[in-house]
Amino acid sequence: MLTAASNEMLCRTGPGTPMGNLMREYWIPACLSSELKADGEPMRLLLLSEQLIAFRDTDGRVGIMEHRCPHRCASLFFGRNEQGGLRCVYHGWKFDVEGNCLDMPNVPPSQDFRHRVRAKAYKVVERGGFVWTYMGKRAEPPPLPSFDILLLPEEERLTRAHQRECNWFQSLEGDIDTSHFGFLHIGALKVEDVDPKSIHRWSVGDRAPDYKATETDWGTMYAAYRPAEPGDYYYRFAHYMLPFFTLTPNGSFEDQVACTMNVPMDDTHTMVYNLSWKKKTRPLETTKNGEWIAGLAPDAKYLPNTNDWHGRNRLVARKENDYFIDREMQKHVNYTGIQGIGRQDQAAVECMGDLVDRSLEHLAPSDRMIAITRKRALEAVQTHMKDGTVPATVDNPDLYRGARGGAFVASTKLDWLAAYAEKLQTAKSPLGLLTRMPLAAE
Ligand code: FES
Ligand SMILES: [Fe+2]
Repeated sequence: MLTAASNEMLCRTGPGTPMGNLMREYWIPACLSSELKADGEPMRLLLLSEQLIAFRDTDGRVGIMEHRCPHRCASLFFGRNEQGGLRCVYHGWKFDVEGNCLDMPNVPPSQDFRHRVRAKAYKVVERGGFVWTYMGKRAEPPPLPSFDILLLPEEERLTRAHQRECNWFQSLEGDIDTSHFGFLHIGALKVEDVDPKSIHRWSVGDRAPDYKATETDWGTMYAAYRPAEPGDYYYRFAHYMLPFFTLTPNGSFEDQVACTMNVPMDDTHTMVYNLSWKKKTRPLETTKNGEWIAGLAPDAKYLPNTNDWHGRNRLVARKENDYFIDREMQKHVNYTGIQGIGRQDQAAVECMGDLVDRSLEHLAPSDRMIAITRKRALEAVQTHMKDGTVPATVDNPDLYRGARGGAFVASTKLDWLAAYAEKLQTAKSPLGLLTRMPLAAE
């Protein structure tokens, strides 16, 4: 459980909140690059509870700015995306992507003061198919994150964006709550359903594994482990990386180039981005023929986007229709009666309420990763509040490169972190540099 005050500190990310201040030290993935077309429509963008406008100018440059015009606060959503800038439709002032006022046509030339007016615009960079923005106070922003998956060629990367109607940390905790996997997703799966050659068969036979978890330079990590062949453990490793990234164990460790980003839109809506490598080996949830096990195939259909602040990347299966739960399917096909792993996850994290009251919980030993991750995130916030000290990943994002999620089998003689370090030496990486693992002491 968590006190109400700690829960508030962890969850709220608006301007001036402790977690919001910490997040603003990092680059934030604002939207997909593909969502903005040169000279196309401006887009309402809700980010860390700030109402912003995103647009791409004639030269392809992206602007992200406060949605209210600095003249008399009309929304720039209605603006005309004209040659080299966005023109407010109320009195015609025009701004470039950096917020400079280019034109003030309702003021006589002798009284023009465009050089003293700026729209509040944030710095923007594009990488890995995303528009990243820096919303913090530094004149020179820190380096961009350098995850392997962001550095892959575009054609080798799969990106899925969907909105969750709940707080960002609630969504993130679903990624590191490994204990649910054996129930929510594969609760109806029997050992005989699984490819006898797949190393993942061990997780089906034993749904109450032991756990190790520790703090790291980039956040936290855990391993769930259970006996495999005599003398071996089957491990599933995963990570939390400050401030809102996770690496889940969805596949074999050696080729698990992936990342999930839980980006707060506001305190009760989260844009979740799942990135994965197309060339990874198949996960547990497929049969030996490579087909999806019944009830687990993805079935992500989207509502049409709207211009509303919450109108992007919403799924058709949602709380209003109980995610299309099918009680017959629940009896005979899968554990939940809900089709698809993603939808099952969505249901589990949203059904707690839009911002869960963690004082009602009773955490178990299987929640160790969740407990240390809350502690790690809260300590990072408190340190930042005290004297502005930022986590090491802000200025040295290369630290993230010691993190890899995934499953493997290793000797029981090896300590869990030694087994991890050994596997890291052979893990595939587009950069070929996955060899370091600086860790805080357990
Ligand atoms: S409010 Fe935008 S130009 Fe007047
Ligand atoms: Fe899940």
